[in-house]
Amino acid sequence: MTLETTEADRLRDLVAAELGRARDRTTLLTEAVDEGDLVRQHSPLMSPLVWDLAHVGNQEELWLVRDVGGREPVRRDIDELYDAFKHPRRDRPQLPLLTPGEARRYVATVRDKALDVLTRSRLEGTPLVDQGFAFGMIVQHEQQHDETMLATHQLRGGPAVLDAPPPPPAAGPVRGEVLVPGGPFTMGTSTEAWALDNERPAHQVFVPAFHIDRAAVTNAEYAAFIADGGYDDPRWWSTAGWDHRQSAGLRAPLHWVRDGDGWSATQFGRIRPVVPDEPVVHVCFYEAEAYAAWAGKRLPTEAEWEKAARFDPATGRSRRFPWGDDTPTPEHANLGQRHLRPAAAGAYPMGVSPLGVHQLIGDVWEWVATDFTGYPGFAAFPYREYSEVFFGSEYKVLRGGSFGTDRSACRGTFRNWDYPIRRQIFSGFRCARDA
Ligand SMILES: [Fe+2]
Repeated sequence: MTLETTEADRLRDLVAAELGRARDRTTLLTEAVDEGDLVRQHSPLMSPLVWDLAHVGNQEELWLVRDVGGREPVRRDIDELYDAFKHPRRDRPQLPLLTPGEARRYVATVRDKALDVLTRSRLEGTPLVDQGFAFGMIVQHEQQHDETMLATHQLRGGPAVLDAPPPPPAAGPVRGEVLVPGGPFTMGTSTEAWALDNERPAHQVFVPAFHIDRAAVTNAEYAAFIADGGYDDPRWWSTAGWDHRQSAGLRAPLHWVRDGDGWSATQFGRIRPVVPDEPVVHVCFYEAEAYAAWAGKRLPTEAEWEKAARFDPATGRSRRFPWGDDTPTPEHANLGQRHLRPAAAGAYPMGVSPLGVHQLIGDVWEWVATDFTGYPGFAAFPYREYSEVFFGSEYKVLRGGSFGTDRSACRGTFRNWDYPIRRQIFSGFRCARDA
């Protein structure tokens, strides 16, 4: 057996395991509820769960079965129904969607074919299959929809159906900020095998010295902003932010309810007091921006966030993750829906960056000040609709992943984006300021 065969076999095993892990999670999220809950729309912001399920299979069919495998279509007739660009989420319940049973059979058929394609693919020779890229893209796509489905579960009414142990407690207090020295660093990647087009290419960015918080803003800190009248004072809000604050009637993070003098929050069908030292979650970009202004700070730029997460001052190198180049383990970060909420500041000392910044990966997606655009030298791949059509001033970037993000769809270079008014996602933030 040649070395090449061994390498390709190892990659095939990895791909098959990652596809299997994603499918186990999809199955958990779609079997936890009954048929009614699968076809119902739990919020106009979200698709019915059964749409996500069949859409995951349809993307897998398009890219792995038809494109990589060159096989005959399984269900060409449903392509249009599950094209995210053809139907906005609010319209999806009215479509003639596959029933839950049909959707389950469809995704299973597609998976059998995709695994057969994997067995026969050399995983090299074209950019689409080199190092298993197309398979990695489909793994990440399914995991991203799993996180979306988890957000749908959070919006769903009715009794709790998901359960998980609590996240680990803080190993010690993590407060204050660190100074990130000014100078160049390498942002983005040209070497990460499954990095998506918007993370590429690696490029040098000069970042002036700045301070960044060692932890994400906590519930206690955010509650102090509310108690100080932060939602009633336009001084802290941008013009667009204040307009939205008023028109949407924002008073507190999504899912928070008054509980005597304090706050409780609903989490996946359960109501519990807000935990003071956990990161605030379910805030929109405008709320994050207003808090930062009230605190005398600002949101970090995307380059600042990535430098705090990846820059190693000892070598000048950018790491894959804050702790180094190793794939995340449960000791590094709160990822993968192992817990159903973010962990307290200080809960992951093994995940700290060389500069002493905690929990940049996992817990909550972190809003940054930057619009979603392409890096210098950006090239759309494998299709414009992955990233490029979203570039511009409409979308803000979020970084670092949440407790609901899988490790396969999270790394120091990974970029998420959303409208600045959105807060059904697992979004929080940390603050920065000029040095
Ligand atoms: Fe999708």
